[in-house]
Amino acid sequence: MREGNSGTEKIIIAPSILSADFSNLAGAAREIDASGAQWLHFDVMDGRFVPNLTFGPKAAADLRPHSKAVFDVHLMTGDPDSLVPGFAGAGADYITFHTEAVIHSHRTLSLIQAAGRKGGISIVPSTPVSRIEELLPFADLVLVMTVNPGFGGQEIIPRCLEKVKRLVDIRKERGYGYLVSVDGGINETTAPMAREAGADVMVAGSAFFGAKDKAGLVRKLGGEGL
Ligand code: DX5
Ligand code: ZN
Repeated sequence: MREGNSGTEKIIIAPSILSADFSNLAGAAREIDASGAQWLHFDVMDGRFVPNLTFGPKAAADLRPHSKAVFDVHLMTGDPDSLVPGFAGAGADYITFHTEAVIHSHRTLSLIQAAGRKGGISIVPSTPVSRIEELLPFADLVLVMTVNPGFGGQEIIPRCLEKVKRLVDIRKERGYGYLVSVDGGINETTAPMAREAGADVMVAGSAFFGAKDKAGLVRKLGGEGL
């Protein structure tokens, strides 16, 4: 059982390659490994659930040999079920979908786990924790969006961090085992708030790829930079 991050534990930093130069994704994956960040966050957008388009399973499969990181796939798509086999086959470790996109969230979570991957649920800023309460015993990860999904480089909505606290409290009260991840607007200034709220994982896109000293940034965010 996880107790929540007390502030002394290291945070897992998950740089998002959404903010990398798409003409050199393999180089970006190598920069992530070289920084000491343990995860690579892979934002999948379908132009329907969010007003932007990114990459599919082939991009993840092609990147896999270039990185030792845990592949943290974040599906911002209207039909996540159809992409689960592709990303599971591509070597994704975690596959997270938006509960707002599907009716049968428990089925989607089961599909991911039946494919041998860790299953995550994500909520946008306007979705309360109560909406996913029945799913929490089954989840490996809960991703709290702290911006409206679709684009990197947006400002954090600090109120969303109250949901991180709530999820950490529920986990402790009920003995659940999910990791709590925060995604959107995380940088040196906002990371302490996310850490204080108890986040286990922090996704960072523009802050990571905008930093000259990437290992230094990972350490400043609370992670184990090389
Ligand atoms: C937004 C994505 C985020 C994004 C974070 O839709 O889910 O992962 O890349 O980028 P920053 O850290 O720039 O807010
Ligand atoms: Zn994301």
